[in-house]
Amino acid sequence: MKEMKRREFLKAGAATVVVASTCLCGLNGCATFTKVGDTVAVRPEALTRKDDEYLIDLSKEPVLNQVGGAVKIKNEAIPQGIMVAHTGENAYQVVSLACTHRGVEVEYDHKNCRFVCSSLGSSKFSLDGGLLRGPAKKPLKPFQATIQNGILSIKMTSG
Ligand code: FES
Repeated sequence: MKEMKRREFLKAGAATVVVASTCLCGLNGCATFTKVGDTVAVRPEALTRKDDEYLIDLSKEPVLNQVGGAVKIKNEAIPQGIMVAHTGENAYQVVSLACTHRGVEVEYDHKNCRFVCSSLGSSKFSLDGGLLRGPAKKPLKPFQATIQNGILSIKMTSG
């Protein structure tokens, strides 16, 4: 009887190891380990900077032409990055890219109208960056975005 329990324990342990090794997909790019999500970077040819604004030429960034599309901007000037999401007809939302828990990149969840941390913690944020669910304790930083003549202008001061 005691032997059976030991075997069951070992079996369960083996199952845990399998789950854990599946979870160690940092080797395959798991965001929890890499801190990098699946959102594509904005095409360089679509992006220009003018003073305190980033300008995205939407004719050169097809991902943002579709409602539900999202890109990230991450460069030397903004190493923490920002997330740009096309949330509705002529509606775009821009928030800081790094989850306020441990800095893993957030993703745009169009189906549920929110941003979700791509780590296992899965903190959730509203479209204006408000905290919906932790473990994060602080909101994402929102940025003001306006569109005119096919150009999306993002003010890098908090919106
Ligand atoms: S880093 Fe986002 S929930 Fe932990």
